Amino acid sequence: MDRPIGIFDSGFGGLTVARALIDLLPAEDYVYIGDTGRYPYGSKPLEDVREYASELAHSLVEDFNVKAIVVACNTATAAGLDHLRSELPIPIFDVVGPGASAVVQASRSGRVGVIGTVGTISSGAYVHAVEAVAARTNISAELSSAACPGFVEFVERGQLSGDEVMVLAERLLAPLAGAKIDTLLLGCTHYPFLARTIGEVMGPDVVLVSSADETAFAVRDRLAEMNLLRLRHDRGNRRFLSSGDVDAFRELGAALFGSDLVAAERWER
Ligand code: DGL
Repeated sequence: MDRPIGIFDSGFGGLTVARALIDLLPAEDYVYIGDTGRYPYGSKPLEDVREYASELAHSLVEDFNVKAIVVACNTATAAGLDHLRSELPIPIFDVVGPGASAVVQASRSGRVGVIGTVGTISSGAYVHAVEAVAARTNISAELSSAACPGFVEFVERGQLSGDEVMVLAERLLAPLAGAKIDTLLLGCTHYPFLARTIGEVMGPDVVLVSSADETAFAVRDRLAEMNLLRLRHDRGNRRFLSSGDVDAFRELGAALFGSDLVAAERWER
């Protein structure tokens, strides 16, 4: 119960999920690993991403004794988490199921969109997840998808707005702008950092949805069911680790995440 919750992503994107979790469950201890030494995941073969995810998850269990893992990365989820779920004796949460659920339920017209990395979109993970939600809830949904190569690199450089981001967003989002969707899921945990630009390109009639809050609710509900929530009321401990340049991680991390990220440590196996 007093063990930490582990979170990982290829870099800074998972901080959007960490923020939602910390806001919802502030008494929990957290260990966040950003695999910036090997990012981006989105353009890599899914077998490689699966291997990275496995190393990170095993480290969170074996080196940090976490009680649950949140895979705060759509690409790692799209690469497949079944092996982790069978190997590790703790709950493993992903962001794809909660994201699909959020976008289907938020849409009024049933025409929804998702954007993500090349790895996520080409895996078909969202097609399956949206179909599963539609079947479960009896809500019909028509999904349009677009891969957005380049978005993650802007976030990892801390370049969240400006002409270059806008030009790329206009080009990549053009197919969705024509698909008459009313709700767009940001199917990469990095994209909420670009929400202003994405929102401007899609226009005021398209609601942007991220999986962060929905994932945090799923974590809370499942840990409560398993009697694994930390019951104390003081603020939990937060550790941030990076497999890349730790100083750069701390600096950009603090700019994106806020003052909770004052120190970063080196992660290695
Ligand atoms: N943030 C990750 C995701 O949700 C991946 C970014 C990347 O490394 O390409 O897909």
